[in-house]
Amino acid sequence: MPGQPEIHGDRILLRPWRATDVDFVLSVSTDPLIPLISQVPDRPDAAGALAFVDAQRVRFESGRGWAWAVVPSGQEKAVGYVGALWVAQSAARASIGYWTGPAARRSGVTADAVRTASGWLLVEAGVARLEAYIEPWNEGSVRVAEKAGFEREGLMRSFAPIGGHRRDAYLYARIAPETT
Ligand SMILES: CC(C)(COP(=O)(O)OP(=O)(O)OC[C@H]1O[C@@H](n2cnc3c(N)ncnc32)[C@H](O)[C@@H]1OP(=O)(O)O)[C@@H](O)C(=O)NCCC(=O)NCCS
Repeated sequence: MPGQPEIHGDRILLRPWRATDVDFVLSVSTDPLIPLISQVPDRPDAAGALAFVDAQRVRFESGRGWAWAVVPSGQEKAVGYVGALWVAQSAARASIGYWTGPAARRSGVTADAVRTASGWLLVEAGVARLEAYIEPWNEGSVRVAEKAGFEREGLMRSFAPIGGHRRDAYLYARIAPETT
């Protein structure tokens, strides 16, 4: 089976995670939100950061989904994450997640990464419906999703525990283009 592909967007490259991304993972472990919504360790712990990178690297091979490091075009270092997990593979339904380190925010990188990844998943990877779950207060994430072609479908009450409390989430989705 071929590995997870690298994909170019307008201003970013999506590539598989590498062991050399550990320093970046350590740098976001002190972010107030990223460790709560991802497998990033919640303290700067080298073993935990390496475990994060390893988990991203095996996701595709294990058939659970996709996980890319987001790298600005022409650069080497990762500035963020975008990935997807099957929710119900038999129904071709998956969910997307994303985060970007504080230094690279508000530069359009995340919107390009999410637009690029979701377009590829819906056209090339057999995903028919791609969902995103966003807490209502998270205006930046709402903007990213809408710029990447996702539409809001409703509010899911008490959707998931985040930081010790159950949180509501907007349900967003982007649908594969018709092929017939
Ligand atoms: C939310 C997050 C992904 C936004 O990433 P970003 O790199 O700033 O996004 P972009 O630069 O691509 O910005 C896309 C749009 O969102 C807007 N935006 C970004 N952050 C914003 C904020 N905090 N408030 C309002 N608008 C915001 C940008 O201005 C831009 O809008 P524009 O094109 O109309 O000017 C980032 O802040 C983050 O990783 N936060 C922590 C993790 C998280 O919340 N992940 C998503 C969970 S659902």
